[in-house]
Amino acid sequence: MALAIFSSAVAYDPFDPSGSINIKWDVLSWTPDGYVAAVSISNNQMYRQITSPGWSIGWTWAKKEVIWSMVGAKVTDQGDCSKFKGNTPLCCEKTPTVIDLLPGAPYNQLFTNCCKGGVLTSLGQDPSTAVAAFQISVGFAGTSNKTVKPPKKFCLLGPGPGYTCSAANIVPSSVSLSPDGRSKTRAMMTWSLTCTYSQLLASKSPKCCVSLSSFYNPLITPCPSCVCGCNDANNCVNDLKDSSLLQSKTTAKENAPQLLQCTEHKCPIRVHWHVKANYREYWRVKITITNFNFLMNYTQWTLVVQHPNLNKLANISSFLYKPLIQYSPINDTGMFYGIKSLNELIREAGRKGYIYTELILKKDKDTFTLDQGWAFPLRLYFNGDECVMPLPDLYPYLPNSAFYNSYPVSISSSTVLATFLVLVLLVFM
Ligand SMILES: *[C@@H]1O[C@H](CO)[C@@H](O)[C@H](O)[C@H]1NC(C)=O
Ligand SMILES: *[C@@H]1O[C@H](CO)[C@@H](O)[C@H](O)[C@H]1NC(C)=O
Ligand SMILES: *[C@@H]1O[C@H](CO)[C@@H](O)[C@H](O)[C@H]1NC(C)=O
Ligand SMILES: *[C@@H]1O[C@H](CO)[C@@H](O)[C@H](O)[C@H]1NC(C)=O
Repeated sequence: MALAIFSSAVAYDPFDPSGSINIKWDVLSWTPDGYVAAVSISNNQMYRQITSPGWSIGWTWAKKEVIWSMVGAKVTDQGDCSKFKGNTPLCCEKTPTVIDLLPGAPYNQLFTNCCKGGVLTSLGQDPSTAVAAFQISVGFAGTSNKTVKPPKKFCLLGPGPGYTCSAANIVPSSVSLSPDGRSKTRAMMTWSLTCTYSQLLASKSPKCCVSLSSFYNPLITPCPSCVCGCNDANNCVNDLKDSSLLQSKTTAKENAPQLLQCTEHKCPIRVHWHVKANYREYWRVKITITNFNFLMNYTQWTLVVQHPNLNKLANISSFLYKPLIQYSPINDTGMFYGIKSLNELIREAGRKGYIYTELILKKDKDTFTLDQGWAFPLRLYFNGDECVMPLPDLYPYLPNSAFYNSYPVSISSSTVLATFLVLVLLVFM
């Protein structure tokens, strides 16, 4: 239902692609046997961040290049440099892999935008920390724009599976302004490529689901059963006392280690949408994000929501909000994210493994209704991955349309019951 409404309204899907990662090499100067380049990695994805352990890029040299030195990043393996006597390169691999330095790297290793342990925020959340950069000095490379060839087969190994990179194309040379803004410098040569994300490539099963409830019906619609898979990969424990499982899991060095708390849905993340109250001119929603993964703290998370009333968001507690207006003509979509040092991080599964917000939305008199599931979201994305919704015919329904749709709601016994049940659900599920 939601999908049909969506695709008839616009010719393209604003969620996919939601931007890409752009990698750019600016050759700054020529050296006796090669060049020095500044490499930048820009996360242009609106709401998909790159979390710890961070980005990791690889490529295949087009000729017999070596890396003499690097500032602001490092290679994971020097490779075989045995044929060099005396002056040894930093890396002789045909297909080097480069990773970021950790915060607190030595002063002489620093480069603008470096040294964040590979972590990049999404563009929508904070453009100033969505970019990484390093400097690389390349030998045996050719010493002019006629003889130098961009590397091939770029790939983004970190942040885990899901990214596919294009070939590097030579583009017009980057122009940068001097710090005083009075003169321009031009790179000798620039090439650039993009890496795009596909949820299907990243993982066969979903990572997030949605449950629903409302003040007007004690029914709670849970996440669909087994929606994130009920196979061995999703085996679970009820609490961390079962530490044998925990240890066998943590020794595996994965990008996203997972040990789930047992649930019906088997998802690491659940988003619960509760229609909490109906006032004369406003209505209220509570959104709770719960982490069921004992091995993961979600840092710098994002939640993208599509709901027809979001453009009338009047008030919000505990989260930050940004409308995704660049997807005009769509104006019913926005991104929520955490407040620094308050809830930028969702703790691992357990007593503290959830965060929530309350929204107050101003009613649009022509469209507002509690009927037909209108008050529930059309789509939700956690960290850029779509959360699976329950089937529309299982949504909490409106028992008495006339009463609930028109007036401020007095506390009725069913409201109290529903609130109680939601609390029970959130504590025990
Ligand atoms: C290569 O460099 C020369 C001299 O700097 C310049 O005139 C020419 O346009 C450059 N060619 C390319 C493809 O960048
Ligand atoms: C999550 O963060 C908390 C607080 O920083 C820390 O105590 C805990 O060990 C972390 N858990 C995991 C699984 O990394
Ligand atoms: C929004 O929240 C603030 C702080 O809680 C409150 O002072 C203000 O009255 C609220 N506005 C509306 C329209 O509810
Ligand atoms: C949002 O978009 C709809 C449909 O494109 C349009 O009718 C409406 O006026 C827009 N609202 C705002 C606040 O821009």
